[in-house]
Amino acid sequence: MLQEDEQIMRIGVLTGGGDCPGLNAVIRAVVRKGVATYGHEFVGFRDGWKGPLEGLSKPLGIAEVRGILPRGGTILGSSRTNPFKIENGVERIKENLAAQGVDALIAIGGEDTLGVATKLHELGVNVIGVPKTIDNDLGATDYTFGFDTAVNIAMEAIDRLHTTAESHHRTLVVEVMGRHAGWIALHAGLAGGANVILLPERQFDVEQVAGYVEKRFQHQYAPIVVVAEGAQPLDGQMVLHNQELDSFGHVRLGGIGQWLAEQLEAKTGKEARTVVLGHIQRGGTPTAFDRVLATRLGLQAIDAAHEGDWGKMVAMQSTDIVRVPLADATAELKTVPIERYEEAEVFFGS
Ligand code: F6P
Repeated sequence: MLQEDEQIMRIGVLTGGGDCPGLNAVIRAVVRKGVATYGHEFVGFRDGWKGPLEGLSKPLGIAEVRGILPRGGTILGSSRTNPFKIENGVERIKENLAAQGVDALIAIGGEDTLGVATKLHELGVNVIGVPKTIDNDLGATDYTFGFDTAVNIAMEAIDRLHTTAESHHRTLVVEVMGRHAGWIALHAGLAGGANVILLPERQFDVEQVAGYVEKRFQHQYAPIVVVAEGAQPLDGQMVLHNQELDSFGHVRLGGIGQWLAEQLEAKTGKEARTVVLGHIQRGGTPTAFDRVLATRLGLQAIDAAHEGDWGKMVAMQSTDIVRVPLADATAELKTVPIERYEEAEVFFGS
């Protein structure tokens, strides 16, 4: 039911950073409630911060969000554009928002996108943030949508790898995403019954990993080693494919799985292969958990915008959806506490 006597706003929506399943569910919830309950208008900005920076937009109404709930990716497109690295970036954003009659922005993103949102809010732009990332590494929220889907994809891959590893008496090393946080590796490894799980939060001793692998073969089972892309060997250098930095200063991770498989093969004498799950973890339809979480976050985000509660990020705390200062989300990376890792260690090598 449309509420009367309220000021109608024109609200821009954007999705920035790496895509993840559930982005469309947020967009749908924001627009559906924003139009039906509050009568607000929406404009979709394309490709993250590039949209408002370059004035690239598309219509965003009820018709545009029909049928998108189960779709992965984002109907708005995404990019890792950092307006603070571009000359007059902030001024250009402000000019484009004014030119398109946009009163406020709902920015859906991770550490980088919400970091930009925080600074823009301090510079007078009306912004609400919605946290997303498969990495689950944002502070102030217990979970980010996209994570559950990524974990389920990785778990299913591990389930499948068990049977082929057994048939060939091989070690299979599974490299998963997560950047500098080991959440995906920990949860997928636990759910999939990995023989060893290696996280960025604790450097690993390759001799010890080889020991776990050998022990597993002694039990007549082939080992699955789950390694986070950001995991590092003791006193070793991070194994990188690529030394280039993106506009937020991040290196592209990857390669540790291949390195580890070579080491394990040499140390155990058993064939070892690597599977890099890569972007498969980010693609496709969201799980029910992620659809519900994304929808609830979207509903809270439009409420916050309607109330003019700018500079907030919507977050999941326990089972509630709450609002926290945007700055809290990016103040510190949420990594895996060592006690959580120790819970999993009981299964290593056995
Ligand atoms: O932050 C999400 C994420 O998928 C990380 O897990 C990964 O390190 C990174 O993005 C990969 O980014 P890109 O798709 O730009 O290579």
